[in-house]
Amino acid sequence: MQIVEKDNIPNILEIRIDRLSNLGFGIAKLNGYVIFVPNTCPEDVVRVKVDKRNKNYAYGSIIEIITPSPHRVQPFCKMQNVCGACQLQFIDYHSQLKYKKEIVEDTMRKIFGSEIEVRDVVPSPQIKEYRHKIQYPISQTKESKRIIAGYYKPSSHDLINIKYCPIQPEYCDKIIDFIRENAQKLNVSGYIEKEHKGLLRHVVIRTSSLNKKSLVVLVINSCSKNANVENFAKLLFNNLDNISGVCVNYNSNKTNLILGEKTDLIIGKDYVEEALCDKVFKIGVKTFFQVNPKSANNIFNYIKNYIKTNCPNSSIIDAYAGISAFGICLSDIASNVTTVEETKESVDIANTLLKENNINNVSAYCEDAGSFLQKLATSGTKFDITVVDPPRKGCTKESLDYALKLTKRKIIYVSCNPATLARDLKYLKDQGATIEYIQPFDMFPHTYHIENIAIISL
Ligand SMILES: C[S@@+](CC[C@H](N)C(=O)[O-])C[C@H]1O[C@@H](n2cnc3c(N)ncnc32)[C@H](O)[C@@H]1O
Repeated sequence: MQIVEKDNIPNILEIRIDRLSNLGFGIAKLNGYVIFVPNTCPEDVVRVKVDKRNKNYAYGSIIEIITPSPHRVQPFCKMQNVCGACQLQFIDYHSQLKYKKEIVEDTMRKIFGSEIEVRDVVPSPQIKEYRHKIQYPISQTKESKRIIAGYYKPSSHDLINIKYCPIQPEYCDKIIDFIRENAQKLNVSGYIEKEHKGLLRHVVIRTSSLNKKSLVVLVINSCSKNANVENFAKLLFNNLDNISGVCVNYNSNKTNLILGEKTDLIIGKDYVEEALCDKVFKIGVKTFFQVNPKSANNIFNYIKNYIKTNCPNSSIIDAYAGISAFGICLSDIASNVTTVEETKESVDIANTLLKENNINNVSAYCEDAGSFLQKLATSGTKFDITVVDPPRKGCTKESLDYALKLTKRKIIYVSCNPATLARDLKYLKDQGATIEYIQPFDMFPHTYHIENIAIISL
């Protein structure tokens, strides 16, 4: 077999795509040398230009699709190729699910060597209009000073003006269009990032699949109140249906972080309501809440049914709890639930919810999850079940150690990042835990993202 090295790869190649990478790029292999090609899918035969080469892999871009994969479809969004948010929209939905399962399997194989059971992906109940958190950067054109709002082109800060996004509810397009058309009339300028000038830098919309109401947050490049922005917030509220409230968030830092520390409610309510299982949750400006509520509902019900069937009447700890959504949903079938989350706003919302709904068997704590688990583990406290749902970076080794120490029966690990899930599962397995299986759910149709539940027995 001819050994392929980076220097014998020609600049132009004809290749057949076999799989998708964890970032949704097509992968072709030449005797072990890997070529990643964005916007391709398995069974495509493509002519590509090699743009960048490393020792074991290269990146290429399509010159021509010689034979299109039978799994290609016409993307339903005209901007798909430009905007970059829906990398997989040109692949039929059934195949997207199949490839996402393979992405999880490949990631597990790399770390474990042997197979871990990965079940078929549970599809999203909606594949359009599913995204219920929208964050658009805002700017203005150089000459005409027209407001533009949309997403940045992939790997750049070039803003694309997006008038219609089919993966978010249609009324959100209307809200953003109103901002485009009317902000300058009230002397609210768009932000020019390069010069760190201009006022309106982002619009964030939290919108409810329960009642279609939206909380609109105008993020401004200022650290103090601005009368023009406040008048504009009121104009927005009074002219559009579907808005439950408008807030202003102050962020005058030169930063990629969207939200600043401080937020003022200008008009209406500073939350929207969303349902999971049969419970209603209040979502504020900074509250973590799953972006696709209908798919989230499937995940929550799956875990609830699993515990009800396998470990009824358990004591449960819900770590990295957000607004204690798992804890509250599981309260009906648990003997007691303890939740821990580091963001105070989320814990306050959880406590209000518990009070309003007369739920007496859930206690919500505001603390770092690792320190909290350590405290409980060293005091000898035990729970039947630990649910962990950490951010993309996964859990720390210490928090896994303490979770093992304080859990009697199962750890249920909810993860939005297969790579850190694989790392953490390996660590748990090395400490003697049994990884039963992984159940993926599609929370983010048309993107490479995939949510997983891992069931771990002790
Ligand atoms: C993926 S979210 C899950 C939230 C919740 N389980 C849900 O489904 O709504 C992760 C949460 O972990 C919280 N978090 C991140 N690091 C933390 C830490 N070290 N200690 C406690 N909470 C943390 C974040 O604020 C966020 O609310």
